[in-house]
Amino acid sequence: MLLQPPLPSQYNMLSTDELRAGIREFKTRLGKRLVILGHHYVRDDVIEFADFTGDSLKLAQLAAEQTEADYIVFCGVHFMAESADIVGSDSQQVILPDLSAGCSMADMAHIDQAEEAWLFLAEAAGMPITPVTYVNSAAAVKAFVGRHDGACCTSSNAKLVLDWALHGAKPSGDPQAGHKVLFLPDQHLGRNSAHALGWPLESMVLYDPKQPRGGLRPEQVRDARFILWQGHCFVHQLFNLEQVAAIRALDVPYQVIVHPECPWEVCQQADMVGSTEYIIKAIREAPEDSYWAVGTEIHLVQRLAATYPRKHVRLLADTQCICTTMFRIDLPHLYWVLEQLAAGTVVNRIAVEDETKRWSRIALDRMLKLRPDQPVSVK
Ligand code: 13P
Ligand code: SF4
Repeated sequence: MLLQPPLPSQYNMLSTDELRAGIREFKTRLGKRLVILGHHYVRDDVIEFADFTGDSLKLAQLAAEQTEADYIVFCGVHFMAESADIVGSDSQQVILPDLSAGCSMADMAHIDQAEEAWLFLAEAAGMPITPVTYVNSAAAVKAFVGRHDGACCTSSNAKLVLDWALHGAKPSGDPQAGHKVLFLPDQHLGRNSAHALGWPLESMVLYDPKQPRGGLRPEQVRDARFILWQGHCFVHQLFNLEQVAAIRALDVPYQVIVHPECPWEVCQQADMVGSTEYIIKAIREAPEDSYWAVGTEIHLVQRLAATYPRKHVRLLADTQCICTTMFRIDLPHLYWVLEQLAAGTVVNRIAVEDETKRWSRIALDRMLKLRPDQPVSVK
């Protein structure tokens, strides 16, 4: 995990109006050389300055399309900025306004753990394994997946990628032969997507990277079709069945819509399950006077509630569900990186080393080729 040294105090002493005016001016000065991308979980005052907003899939696609820009300032977290650097052109530089904006889920799968797991699993499996990593992972893990004929996925296309992985993804493999899937690092997205494809829970085992051989016996690996990495998002893991029951008990016809990083039992009880882009689309297209209880990060839920006041949007939980790392991307940090860029200095560059970039690009490109026109429901 990277650490952001505190900004010089002068940046924190600027008023909101000064920060906003400065950011507008730096953006004008940089013109087409700059593109700002913003993930849906980023705070409102920052998202206002994004040229494009999106979920992880849309932002990866957008990053690959920004051929004119010299600088991509990524208002999101570290793995997203790495992905933008991997799919972008060599002349582009990707900047993350706060280096401490990591992702605790991505940190749950270290490359050494993935390599160690592979040694055990490949031998115990009894049939080929295709590794699939959620894009919420380090570039080194994406490269590991690329080297082993696997692919990345996002919550918008996990079902498509899993289907591809199960049916002989390996170019050298027999397309008729089935493959097992190692899915990392989010057990919930893996379980929800595999189940949505019709696979029973008994076909899945959980690999705990903190235990020798993941805490699994070789025969458990042999009998399973999916090996799910024991990782999770601490924000989405907060949603539970009691919250769904409390919403159902209200005398209001709430539809429950949740992100597939939520636990399986919550997704089973929800009316709809999909990525942030899917959630936005569902609510945008819903009739007025509809009611929505949403299981995802609070900033997106609040923005939806403000954008569609006649659609009665609320958070599924009573507690705040904040991605604290995404929250680090604030106006002073955005101002600082843009001020430096406008003065010709690149700070907080995220640059993936060449060999890692080569293999992780293969894993990301496989995913981008399977691009859906619409975000796919995970139910
Ligand atoms: P999506 O952007 O794929 O909806 O995922 C949400 C998330 O947790 C990003 O870190
Ligand atoms: Fe990571 Fe969860 Fe934050 Fe997404 S919401 S960046 S998965 S910690």
